[in-house]
Amino acid sequence: MLTQMETDKKITGEEAVTYIKDGMILGLGSGSTVNWMLEKLAERIKNEGLQVKGIPTSKKTERLAKKLGISLIDFTEVERIDLAIDGADEVDPNLNLLKGGGGSLVREKIVDVLADKLIITVDGSKMVPHLGDFPLPIEVVPYGWNITAKRIAVFGCEPVIRKQDEEVFISDNGNYILDCKFEKILDPKKLHQHLKAIVGVVETGLFVGVTDKVISCRSGSMEVLERNIQELDEEE
Ligand code: 5RP
Repeated sequence: MLTQMETDKKITGEEAVTYIKDGMILGLGSGSTVNWMLEKLAERIKNEGLQVKGIPTSKKTERLAKKLGISLIDFTEVERIDLAIDGADEVDPNLNLLKGGGGSLVREKIVDVLADKLIITVDGSKMVPHLGDFPLPIEVVPYGWNITAKRIAVFGCEPVIRKQDEEVFISDNGNYILDCKFEKILDPKKLHQHLKAIVGVVETGLFVGVTDKVISCRSGSMEVLERNIQELDEEE
């Protein structure tokens, strides 16, 4: 029996699959909501003979996609991605995102930024008036990470090195993640620019101006928000 939140994740993940068309190169995001999307995509591949190729944004997604029989393509073989479908930890009213709860923010950003269209699937609790209640994940190079953390702290947070099973968490790229609790992130673009300029910072979990569509669901009631309806219609 699924919880209401898990049901909401399933609904949005499955809805995202309706935007997938035959022949697409897909960016496959990471996280529990995206996992529902992958299950549904595998169903469409099996039932409709849908031909797609995916680029996974994490080793976990890669494993699940392979298990479900979703064809993957090596990143070196593609120059563009038609559509990326990903999750998020927070979404603000301007469709800016805070991501990285699962530790896959670097690969997710590489894929999400490249995609012609980015659809974000979230349960309704992720829709927030401003980013920052969720500690901002920042991926850093392990060498000198404590110095990098001090430089990050200057911007108004207390970086905490992420651990898993009492060991330091290592990202798919071999780096560390610092979880940084800020007050309110009212200007995500500026904060991202400042943080990205710090030597040792690989990437931040702030995704600004990249989302085209957000599918959210709260207590079974789905809502679809679009960055710019006119622009999206013209592209289609
Ligand atoms: C991983 C992410 C995920 O997109 C995010 O954590 C997804 O959360 P959920 O499991 O609730 O779908 O940013 O780095």
